[in-house]
Amino acid sequence: MPEDQTALNRGSAAQGFAQPADSDSWYLDPLAALQKRNVHLELVRDWAPDLRPQTVVKTDVFEEANNQDAVLPNVKLGQRLSLGFDVELRTVAKAQRRYQGEAPQFLNADARNLPFASDSLELIISTSTLDHFETRAEFVESIRELARVLDPKGRMILTIDNPWNPGYFPLYALFRLPFAPFKLGYTPTRARLDADLRDAGLRPQAWRPLIHNPRMITTLILLGLRKLFGASADGVVSSYLNLFARCESLPTRWFTCVFMAVCVTKEPPSAA
Ligand SMILES: C[S@@+](CC[C@H](N)C(=O)[O-])C[C@H]1O[C@@H](n2cnc3c(N)ncnc32)[C@H](O)[C@@H]1O
Repeated sequence: MPEDQTALNRGSAAQGFAQPADSDSWYLDPLAALQKRNVHLELVRDWAPDLRPQTVVKTDVFEEANNQDAVLPNVKLGQRLSLGFDVELRTVAKAQRRYQGEAPQFLNADARNLPFASDSLELIISTSTLDHFETRAEFVESIRELARVLDPKGRMILTIDNPWNPGYFPLYALFRLPFAPFKLGYTPTRARLDADLRDAGLRPQAWRPLIHNPRMITTLILLGLRKLFGASADGVVSSYLNLFARCESLPTRWFTCVFMAVCVTKEPPSAA
């Protein structure tokens, strides 16, 4: 992660990113979406710099279908195939329409029962997919299934909702209401996730607390700023996001982070 989050926001405006201009997410400010996309791309750069995968697979294509935080089309590790799957066929079709003729391929599949051979995937990226199951049993089932398909020399980058964030449970309750864009599900603590990964035969190699602005409050503030000032609010929105990004270096980072990110392998941890 760069020390200066501003660099991420500057980078997001640069050429070279595959990014459809449209968005179906009223709740996610375009700059917040770019920040979310960039911190996930940063994880890939930091945690898979040596990997030359044939295939990059992403669990769920919600971002690719709806938002400006799409990660998969921007992962460039020389892979032959970028493949995103989602349990919702409608979401798969939307993503396919948005990226017609471009690199990623999209597939209708369920993270609990994947149509891939064991030990076959060299890089799996899972951005807050597994925290949408109703039950812990389904969460564990999907971790085991991802462990099955991960290549023994491969890597999985997983992010999930942080239940220690004070805003998590209010958001969980709010997202049960009919107007919510989606529901939140079961999410474990970091210690529980660590144990679940190890039980599935995986080895956590590195952890990172991601995105530190309070989600609900941020949505309201940014919606207000955009209503009043439109695109002219870019500078203020950027400063707001950058200010909260600085919380990543504070001792409170595992309470303020919206997502917990972990890099896992099937191999024992390296001496380095
Ligand atoms: C609401 S989105 C949020 C996650 C998204 N990556 C993000 O960070 O914005 C959750 C996505 O996970 C998908 N999903 C839920 N259960 C799934 C499963 N068992 N297998 C694959 N995708 C699943 C949903 O269809 C939806 O597209």
